[in-house]
Amino acid sequence: RGAPPTVVVIFGASGDLTARKLIPAVYNLGLDSLLPTDFYLIGFGRKPIPDDEFRTLAADAIKEFSRRELQPEAWKRIAANTSYVAGGYDDPDAFQRLKEHIDAIEKKLGREVQSLFYISTPPSVFTPILENLGAAGLAEKYAGQALQSKVIIEKPFGRDLASAQALNGTLRKYFTEPQVFRIDHYLGKETVQDLLVQRFSNAIFEPLWNRNFISSVQITVAEEVGVGSRGGYYEQSGALRDMIQNHTMQLLALTAMEPPVSLDAEAIRDEKVRLLRAIQPLRTGAEGDVVRAHYAAGMTGGKPVPGYREEEGINPDSATETYAAIRLSINNWRWQGVPFYLRSGKRMARRVSEIAVTFRRPPGTLFAEGDRFQLASNTLSFQIQPDEGLSMILNAKIPGLETRTQPVKMNFRYSTTFGSNTPEAYERLVLDAMIGDGTLFIRGDETEQSWKIYTPVLEAWAAAGQQGLESYPAGSWGPTAAEALLAKNHDVWRQP
Ligand code: BG6
Repeated sequence: RGAPPTVVVIFGASGDLTARKLIPAVYNLGLDSLLPTDFYLIGFGRKPIPDDEFRTLAADAIKEFSRRELQPEAWKRIAANTSYVAGGYDDPDAFQRLKEHIDAIEKKLGREVQSLFYISTPPSVFTPILENLGAAGLAEKYAGQALQSKVIIEKPFGRDLASAQALNGTLRKYFTEPQVFRIDHYLGKETVQDLLVQRFSNAIFEPLWNRNFISSVQITVAEEVGVGSRGGYYEQSGALRDMIQNHTMQLLALTAMEPPVSLDAEAIRDEKVRLLRAIQPLRTGAEGDVVRAHYAAGMTGGKPVPGYREEEGINPDSATETYAAIRLSINNWRWQGVPFYLRSGKRMARRVSEIAVTFRRPPGTLFAEGDRFQLASNTLSFQIQPDEGLSMILNAKIPGLETRTQPVKMNFRYSTTFGSNTPEAYERLVLDAMIGDGTLFIRGDETEQSWKIYTPVLEAWAAAGQQGLESYPAGSWGPTAAEALLAKNHDVWRQP
């Protein structure tokens, strides 16, 4: 899998994501000889930074955040082709300078290169950047040719259906869909990619993967960290926009979609969209399908931590949720009647992302649950992170002269089988975008479909203000109202 000669332009070059993820991803691709021979990196940002200083910042980022150590020789090759362009995102002249810079690279090389624009800025400047790329002729430069420009766009992709549609509209003015790569970094995680392999390469799962055998599915994306220094962003976002609408919905779509006709990007994304379309509208209000809450003071990692409203940059009367739980129904042939539960929160008991599929119980004629027979429903859980793996809960006989049973766990761990030095999500995603493979990116209609499900909920919450906003102690598994959401179906949340 080779990429053509490429210049990657990072907008938001002095930002946090660039240092933590993007520069280390480029460096690790270089270490693995996955960058094209002619590879150029341009940082673009408002702050004037000399080329040399940008290279030093990049090297520091690698030292601090890369999964592998900085090897001077490998870095030297990338650094030699690394530069910086300063300018405002709404300044057409700056984009002209960028264009001249890219033209100069092409002239030096004596050939055309593909431009990959990575927009890693706050969402408020997504539109000016796209408009300026278009106006400078940087978007259509190679339209119709193998070296077409490409654009990667970071989250958040809109904050509701209307804004996502507007952003898609701006993108379509200058780029065709195959040139657009909307990031959801969960799709770059190894375990998430493995979902399709597990589901469709193992004969034992697919025959059981439906309402006849599965009683419920729980998807958890829990974090131990709080809002940290991102209060300004998070106040405007909340758990539903930040995690549920994108990350957990991607996990849901891959878990529940129909088998795609091929592994082709469009085949897979077609199935994900079809699945999203089958989701029933969510009911809000007291007896509804959604619960929201924010964390109150509590303990995590043995230390006392403040509540959300006491955090830096947070309005003391904030109505922003740091936790959301959803009960979804998928109205299609495969899933009708099977509840799907989604939850995500900050400052929860432990950092864990998992998908747990619970199977129906066999007839209780032989082993009736009681003193001697402790039984659990078979549960298959995909451990997305940490402790990446797959486990299955079965019932087994306790060794002894009497027949007694107990649930046991069968475990597969990636680190034990494959070792632990797996690529980071961003490595895979940057490489795929350079190659032009959109499989692990979100298509325009997909993001709109997901916003269609959640926009009415966001509107209802905005109208309700504080009303119905629950709280949970930091370090717990969430508010009690979320228990009630499952109790209606006689289910309980797992404590993974
Ligand atoms: C981001 C959210 O998309 O995902 C953050 O904006 C969150 O709030 C992060 O912390 C979690 O990602 P990961 O890879 O650490 O699970």
